[in-house]
Amino acid sequence: MLDLIVRNANLPDGRKGFDIGVQDGRIAEVVPNLEARAHKEIDAGGCLVTPPFVDSHFHLDSTLTYGNPRVNRSGTLLEGIDLWGELKPSLTAENIKARARELCRWAAAHGTLAIRSHVDVSDERLIGVQALLELKGEVKPYIDLQFVAFPQDGYFRHPSAPASLRRALDMGLEVVGGIPHFERTSALGAESIAALCELAAERGLLVDMHCDESDDPMSRHIETLTYHTQRLGLEGRVTGSHLTSMHSMDNYYVSKLIPLMAEARVNVVANPLINITLQGRHDTYPKRRGMTRVKELMEAGINVAFGHDALMDPWYSFGSQDMLEVAHMALHVAQMTGVEEIKRTFDAVTTNGARILGLEGYGLEPGCRGDMVVLQASDIHEAIRLRATRLFVIRRGAIIAQSWPRVSRVELNGKSFEVDFRFNPEDWR
Ligand code: FE2
Repeated sequence: MLDLIVRNANLPDGRKGFDIGVQDGRIAEVVPNLEARAHKEIDAGGCLVTPPFVDSHFHLDSTLTYGNPRVNRSGTLLEGIDLWGELKPSLTAENIKARARELCRWAAAHGTLAIRSHVDVSDERLIGVQALLELKGEVKPYIDLQFVAFPQDGYFRHPSAPASLRRALDMGLEVVGGIPHFERTSALGAESIAALCELAAERGLLVDMHCDESDDPMSRHIETLTYHTQRLGLEGRVTGSHLTSMHSMDNYYVSKLIPLMAEARVNVVANPLINITLQGRHDTYPKRRGMTRVKELMEAGINVAFGHDALMDPWYSFGSQDMLEVAHMALHVAQMTGVEEIKRTFDAVTTNGARILGLEGYGLEPGCRGDMVVLQASDIHEAIRLRATRLFVIRRGAIIAQSWPRVSRVELNGKSFEVDFRFNPEDWR
């Protein structure tokens, strides 16, 4: 007797009609017509069942502060930074934890069961670090959190940042962050990358830097990050987040840069919701989109994932922690509408992120964790198109969230479509 069986599931790789059995928190079987019985059975009815979504880049300490102490009237990055500065003195461990806890609930309900969050370590009190480490243990039964020590005000630019960052790592943060384009000079940005990568190498930690988050084609810290990745033997353990300047770089230069990044196995995280709204603001027309070169990086074999980055905070007043909304935006901005490209955008909010975070037992194969999402969609294309309803979210073989299905299906020319309305005017007269 198994703990759970999800029957008649379509899988992300296109296999149809499979049954997934879970025992003791792990996937035991993935076969058609599983003969075993289980304490709990779900009929997926030909819906897509996928491993959980992964948000590879988020800021839990600032989320859900929208309107506090005021809204970002211009909607720009710079006003967002000012606003965060105004908000910081009023932050307490209790309000950070309460907001982050609520965000984790939103995430899990949308099938996002792992988040990498950057945590601002510029504040010497490190209340965000303490609060979020406590929360990590509390929410562990339903979501995995991984934290980056992020010197938001600059590693060299803010005098106490080097000491605070080390203390945050001592407290248990797992990833070394940075923000080289925000240092006072380009040279200091490059120096900060060297110092922070050396710190990560010494301590055996991962690296994830906010890097080149601007429209400046000459902001080339990703080149330096790639260099130190190889110099220190950190291949596969370093992530460049945002990399929006790559959008504006000279094509010839990029033709040299991308192969170097592939060689160093640097991971990339794009944040489509934020990148499309905050970049290109100094342009008239044509206006740059600002998102990094997702399609070309993927074609070069580089591991690219997507993040939500911000949600109802000083920088972004929208969002609901739905990684399908993120994939939907990325697909449009990067014009990834080819059949293989659609699959790749789905990978960027699932498996690629799991690789970056180093999640153990991620996937839908026997032996993997019994974590999965039943979506009200028949395949990946429909899941992204509809930002499909998460019918069931399953963690270690137990249902942790459930949503009502969309109201009806429409049959047309032998195809079936999910719709979220009932259009029968005759019935209502
Ligand atoms: Fe960020």
